[in-house]
Amino acid sequence: MPEAPERNLALDIVRITEAAALASARWLGRGDKAAGDNAAVQAMRICFATLNIDGTVIIGEGEKDKAPMLANGEKVGTGSGLALDVALDPVEGTSLLAYGRPNAISVIGVSPQGSMFNPGPSFYMQKLVVGQEARDAVDIDAPIEANLKNIAKALGKSVQDLVVFVLDKPRHQPLIEDIRKAGARIQLQTDGDVIGALMAVDAHSEVDVMLGTGGTPEGVLSACAIKGLGGQMLARLDPQSYVEKEAINEAGIDLREVLTVNDLVRSEDCFFAATGISGGDFLHGVRYSKLHAVTHSLVLRGKTGTLRYVESYHNMDRLSKFSAVRY
Ligand code: FBP
Repeated sequence: MPEAPERNLALDIVRITEAAALASARWLGRGDKAAGDNAAVQAMRICFATLNIDGTVIIGEGEKDKAPMLANGEKVGTGSGLALDVALDPVEGTSLLAYGRPNAISVIGVSPQGSMFNPGPSFYMQKLVVGQEARDAVDIDAPIEANLKNIAKALGKSVQDLVVFVLDKPRHQPLIEDIRKAGARIQLQTDGDVIGALMAVDAHSEVDVMLGTGGTPEGVLSACAIKGLGGQMLARLDPQSYVEKEAINEAGIDLREVLTVNDLVRSEDCFFAATGISGGDFLHGVRYSKLHAVTHSLVLRGKTGTLRYVESYHNMDRLSKFSAVRY
């Protein structure tokens, strides 16, 4: 039976990522990670309180950063309306923002209650992300060279044409050597693997694949976006310390399990929004003009795959007269 259009929650949550981006963008390059993050957290919290949802934070500020607000398990929204799992990162790439580097973004993903993968005590996850055309060509257990060959074949290019996004971390040295040996090109970024995943699945970006280990929460957030954009993420928890490994074992989570996008978000009815803070090729950062602050966002609906880019002109004089958010 045909359905009438439903509420697109991505258009609600983008107002929240915009507010967080506006609040934190003032901290660009000022060297204060905590201040930028706090500004975004406060803005998100205030804005969530106005949203008619019964939300539970599954992916929050909490665990790795030991943040006091928007932590895992916290309720968000007015408490009435749709019961939702919420994944959020007020500033994804706190160092990028603090040190004035590109690609800091504010992100939120939502899906029906009970459908989001709960990382429990896991902080780190190995990820392999590709776009729609290569989604069936990848195997997280295969050698890097074989994966790159298969991805290149699926994309109709040679391995030398591929660009692989990798976080520039000491743990990735062997991975980087393997990619170089295979002959592919590499885009190394200090932080921000949600943007890396977005670029890997977006056909217009120069990045073809993302490889390596990043945050588990960031993996779930990325999955919310990949559900809408198409593509695949294969993932496996990859603890980086003995304590993390023991906590995962104690929680009864199988470290060997390969998780797909559909395991990370078990519903098509999900939504994702991201707003640029520091700017970059993928999303522009917050820009100030005489009258306005301009934000650039991406919003996605999982069920339909509709992707919107939203450019908003915020009149800061008017906003500052009544808004509880401090811009
Ligand atoms: P923050 O916003 O919490 O600083 O995370 C940035 C980030 O680079 C993520 O994109 C990535 O998943 C994770 O950190 C990697 O963690 P680490 O820097 O500890 O290797």
